[in-house]
This record gives sequence, structure tokens and C-alpha cells, in this order.
Amino acid sequence: MCGIIGYYGNKVVKDVLFDGLKKLEYRGYDSAGVAIYDKDQYRVIRARGKLNHLKERLDGENFSGKIGIGHTRWATHGIPSETNAHPHQVGKISLVHNGIIENYQEIKETLVRGGAKISSETDSELIAHLISQEVEQGHDLKKAVDQIIPKLEGAYSIVATSLDEPDTMIAFKNGPPMVLGLGKEEIFVASDAQAIIHHTNKVIFLEDLEVVKIQGTNYEIFSANGFPIEKNIHTLNMSPEAIEKQGYKHFMKKEIYEQPRVVANAMRDHIDLETLKVALEVLNSEDQIIAAEDLKEDLAKVQRIFIVACGTSYYAGLYGEYLIENMARIPVEVEFASEFRYRHPVIPENSLVLVISQSGETADTLASLRMAKEQGAKILSICNVDKSSIDREAYYRLFMRADVEIGVASTKALTTTMTVLNLFAIYLGTSREQINSEQEKHLVRSLQALPSEMEKVLAYDSFFEDAAKSLKDFRGFLYLGRGANYPVAMEGALKLKELAYMHAEGYAAGEMKHGPIALIDDRMVVVVVAPSDSVYEKTLSNLEEVRARGGHIIAIGTEKNEKLKNLSKHYLAIPKSTWNLNPILSVIPLQLMAYHLADNLGLDVDQPRNLAKSVTVE
Ligand code: F6R
Repeated sequence: MCGIIGYYGNKVVKDVLFDGLKKLEYRGYDSAGVAIYDKDQYRVIRARGKLNHLKERLDGENFSGKIGIGHTRWATHGIPSETNAHPHQVGKISLVHNGIIENYQEIKETLVRGGAKISSETDSELIAHLISQEVEQGHDLKKAVDQIIPKLEGAYSIVATSLDEPDTMIAFKNGPPMVLGLGKEEIFVASDAQAIIHHTNKVIFLEDLEVVKIQGTNYEIFSANGFPIEKNIHTLNMSPEAIEKQGYKHFMKKEIYEQPRVVANAMRDHIDLETLKVALEVLNSEDQIIAAEDLKEDLAKVQRIFIVACGTSYYAGLYGEYLIENMARIPVEVEFASEFRYRHPVIPENSLVLVISQSGETADTLASLRMAKEQGAKILSICNVDKSSIDREAYYRLFMRADVEIGVASTKALTTTMTVLNLFAIYLGTSREQINSEQEKHLVRSLQALPSEMEKVLAYDSFFEDAAKSLKDFRGFLYLGRGANYPVAMEGALKLKELAYMHAEGYAAGEMKHGPIALIDDRMVVVVVAPSDSVYEKTLSNLEEVRARGGHIIAIGTEKNEKLKNLSKHYLAIPKSTWNLNPILSVIPLQLMAYHLADNLGLDVDQPRNLAKSVTVE
């Protein structure tokens, strides 16, 4: 969950590292540091807190060298402090690490018994000790790394340098992502291509247990068993502008506003504009579109679908369950990846496992994918990050096409996934003759109208900017929804918790009377998602129950609805749409509500405390 970067080249090393760390800050932001070669030594500069603290320390510093490494941390072993910040320096070795070493206790005991002086609480420093011991015995850095890899259990991506070889970096990984960037007379290594895309779009993705030796501007990659290998160089199609705030106060705000555009993007390749049919474009692992007949034949065999994901992607999956079961009548199970991977699930033959992940790197989701694959299941992924680990390991690949999402709280990745899930469900429904061609056309037309309807809902921005001033004084928040709007209720609560640090709960509206109703009084905000659909009347009864107990109601409904308006303190109208798309329209006001509450409280919207964008540890 940390971000790491390494650089060799003619540019100002501290600037390249710092700019890269800025782009990686979403991965962790409780401390940061760099080690840069300067007049016969690696000078380490570290600071607790966000990157601006490191910046203050770097300002005015000059380094003569062409090589350096950097790190932004999300604490696992040891509190956020300068001592625990990376790079760790032991003897001649400087090192940055992302991940968790599971056998660190054992390694530490052995090191301490051997007389090593450990100065931090981290597992990462121990790796620097192990490498340092090897180097002291006369090995070069590459050999030293080879010697210590078998001693490490757990997840890691690491870049190490040695004073003995001041033009060399060794990078290696097991689990978390690592990408090599090939520039002109310069070379990079980083946790994510975003960190280097300003310099080069030519990259190589490292696989687990591969080792790269970077020496000057040359590199050599070695397989897990130590043999030199050639790997494909990918040209990434990622624009640096997509990573800037473009005048918005926060990335999250920009990303909320981008939703109409990226949702249109997400559906673009999958709709035949002449026939108004869904022509699903699924890629195989070689980046080729799977032929329509093959896809149809393959998916016709599917008898059960498991959707596996975490956090917001999990809520997208729950929503997908409503769509697929309704439209295609295929049984669907949705599970948190962190549960699925350990509960020894029964995955019958002809099951499809659909994994959803914005980052494509979430450790639990990746492990679930691998486990399901081992059991013979076919994997379909929906990722945002092209060539991320999950995307690379899936058999069928769909994409969110949300562009880079920087705000730690996910917004546009959710609505684009919901869009793709609609296309997938319609495709399955028509191929199984559960949806006729008139119904398909109607569904496709409503999808095409969705981006402009989303634009209308963005108008609630100013409403929440104002309402946040009073809403922030309430004791708690309950979000209610039924059917496909139930996942929306849970997503609304998650957004508020992670951004505004306020207690919020998402509940199935019909379940409220079985317990949570006891919470309701006039200090409780109850957000009811009640657009016009088959369960609207039922939700209305639940809303009456809330009103009778004095809850401060915010209702979301379809267009002008006097009844809902009279029952609530604030009524938010969404445009008329189909049952399956109402949730996409309803979730936008909830994103804006969480955003404004957090901003009004003066909190860091883009980097909420304790979180990280890409959870590459268990
Ligand atoms: C919430 C949020 C997280 C992620 C979760 C999964 O706003 O961003 O809950 O949704 O960590 O991440 P991905 O989709 O990258 O697997």
C-alpha cells in the first residue's frame, strides 16, 4: 500500500522522485522520503506526514548524483514516524519497500541474535539488513538480493541500491505491482505507471519473483529461477492531463463531474449504434477482441456467477447481482474477496467468477481470482487500470474506462462499472432469450440517455454545499434503499464514513423495522433512496415509519413527487429512467453529500485518514 519509485538519468533526481511520489501519494501518505546519491554517499531525507513536509526538507538541497529512490508510506509495521519512514539505510544499502513481510518476527530474532542494530519498528528495515549482510560478505547487489529472496515470506515490491555500485538499482517483487519505465537516456521503476507517465509511456510490467538490474540506463530482467529474460515493452495510452485537477478544488470533485463523460466512454465500444443491440467487446489476454460466436458459446455454458470484490467495487457487484438475476435469470453470489479467498467456497463446474477492481491490484481480490482459477473457474475481470495484475490474470477482460481515478474515495469507477454491468447483464439476457429485441432496444436507449441525465443530477452540488453546514451537526446517518438501490444506500454510507468520519450505516429499507429503527430520532439523518420502481410503494411505507419517529429525512425520488416531498425535509429529484439505471443517478447526490460534508468539516477529501487507494496488502 505504499508507493515506491526509483530513477537513473540526467534530470534533477530529487524533482523526478518528488513528482513521482506526488502521483503515488494515493497509495499512502503518512510519511515519505528519498535517498539520492551525492558525493560518494546516499543522502536520506525523510519526513513524517504528507509529502509537503518532505518538500520543505528537500527545498534548498542539491544532490550531485544521477540516481535515487523514493517512498510514500501507508503504515503497517510501526507507527507513522520519521524513523519508520523509508528509505531505510543499513550499511551500504538504501532500500524502499511496499508490502508486508509475514515472517518478519523470525527474521528480526535471527538478525538481533547476530548482533544487528535495528533502529525502526518496520519489517522493511530488516530486508535492508539482510541485503547488507550479503554485501558485506563480498556479494554484488544483484547476488545479495538473489540470496535473500528465499528468506522473505509475504508481499513486497522493493528497490535497493548499494554504495559499492553507485549506478545500480535492483528492483524485485512478489505481490504488489511494479513497473519499469524506459525513457531516452533515463530509466524508472515505480509502483504505478502514473508516477512516470510524464516522462515515458514505454513500460514493462514485472511479474512476481522477477528481478531487474538497472545499471545506468541499461536493464536486465531475470526470471524467478535466475535466467535473463526478454519481456514485452508496452506503450501506455494514458494522458498526463488526466492526472491533473483541472481547476477543481479536489480530485474527487473533478471525478464526480467527469462521470457523465466516462460513463459514455464505458458504453461506447459495446453498443451497435445502428441496431441498438449490445455487442459486448471482451478482450482476451492478448488484447484481442473475443469473436462474438466464441463469446456467446462460452457464456451460454455459464450456470452460476460469483462476483468477488472489495469496498465500493463490492457494492457495484451487489448491484450487478440484481441486474444479472433479473435480466438473464442466472444465479449470482456476491462476496467480499477477503471472505471468499479463505472460506473454501464451492465453485461448481460452469461457473464464471467476475472480479471487479478499479486498481486491479487489490490483494484480496487478486488472491480470490487465483484461487478460483486454480479450481478451474473462468475469470472475467472489470478493471480500470489496463495491464494491472488482475487484468493481466483474467481470461475475459472488460474495462471501466473511467480514466485515472486519483481521489481515494471511489466515484467514477463505481458508475462506470455499474454501466458495464448493465451491458453485461443485457448481453446475457438477450443471448438467453430472457430479453427480446424490443426490450433490448429500450434498455440500450435508456443507457444512451444516461450521461445527460447524470449531468442534471450534478446540479445537487450547490444544494449540498449549503446543506452540509447544518447536516454536519447530526449524530448519525442511516441510508435506506430497496432492491437495486440497496447497494446505493450502502455506498452512500461508506462515502460518508471514509470522507467525513461520521457514523453512517446503509440498510435494506425493509429490514429497518427489525432493529435500526430504534436509532431514529430528530438527531438522525435518514437518507431514503426511493426512485419510481417496483418497490417504490414499499420504500414509501418505510419512509413513513422514519417520519413518525422524527428522523431528518432526505429523500431521493423520480422527478416531481409531491408525496415524497411532503414526507421529507429535503427532496432530491432524479430524472425519470429505467429501474436498472435509477441507482446510477441516485448515487451521485450521495457522493456530493459526502464530499461537501467532509470539505465543510475541513477534512482532506482526496486523502482521508488511514486509507489508501490501492490496497495491496491483506
Ligand atoms: C471506497 C474505495 C474502496 C475501494 C476498495 C476496492 O471509496 O475506494 O472501498 O473500492 O478498496 O478497490 P479496487 O476497486 O481498486 O479493488
